[in-house]
Amino acid sequence: MRIVRSRSALSEQLNAIKSDGESVGFVPTMGALHSGHLALVKHAALENNHVVISIFVNPTQFNNPEDLKKYPRDVDADIKKLEELQDVILFLPAVSDLYPKEVRSKLIDLNGLDKVMEGEFRPGHFDGVATVVSKFFEIVQPTRAYFGEKDFQQLQIIRLISKNQFPGIQIIGHPVERNRDGLALSSRNQLLSQEDQKKALLIFQNLNWAKLQVPKLSPDTISHSIIQNFEGSALEIEYVQIVNEDTLQKIDSWEDVKSARIFIAAHISGVRLIDNVSLF
Ligand code: PAF
Repeated sequence: MRIVRSRSALSEQLNAIKSDGESVGFVPTMGALHSGHLALVKHAALENNHVVISIFVNPTQFNNPEDLKKYPRDVDADIKKLEELQDVILFLPAVSDLYPKEVRSKLIDLNGLDKVMEGEFRPGHFDGVATVVSKFFEIVQPTRAYFGEKDFQQLQIIRLISKNQFPGIQIIGHPVERNRDGLALSSRNQLLSQEDQKKALLIFQNLNWAKLQVPKLSPDTISHSIIQNFEGSALEIEYVQIVNEDTLQKIDSWEDVKSARIFIAAHISGVRLIDNVSLF
């Protein structure tokens, strides 16, 4: 693994790789790497000659300064996890490298995909994600870029950006990685006690329960039952939404929907968790 800390150093490495006609897989991250990230890296390594991993805690996608402050960071531990990998470049840009003028999001039309769920509860979040991912795509110009389905809304937004602005980059979604009990892997899990991680399984249990109710119960009935299931638990539910997978718009019935997905966001001990499963 090679470490590069500036845009110019990365371009130098990439020019050599690309002039040999070799492919580049890109895995953008905000660090605090866990086995979910490593699975993305493995996926990228299987499909490309080289992998670029970025670690950058992007300030513009945090609508809550407290959340940005609390976000787990441990670059030394991250480096150790990647050290042994072959044909991997770790890109560690500074804020001034990505935001040389002002630390601000660009306004990008995201076709309403950014207005629901995470977008509704974290205003401006996807403007920040879209801005930083576009900057990374311009710098890295990968053959393929890899994103986890845990952030499914983000994945759909990036697919749209790629279609409109970077048609040469293939966007690859990777299934949600879970621990043995089923909790979706997230950098935020390390902020939770073991006991809270067990309690947080309520999210995945309810997502699985929902899947079993289709098409017997309506989307609304399922959502209301889940809200009731969370009452009196250690988790405070922020939203439960059943949506059309392509448009991310809420659905009222199963008719005429090609693929549907259920999403839950909930808080436990001050930590915000999200998860989703495909219903059909
Ligand atoms: O999913 C993430 O970790 C971030 O949103 C991303 C894609 C690295 C952009 O900062």
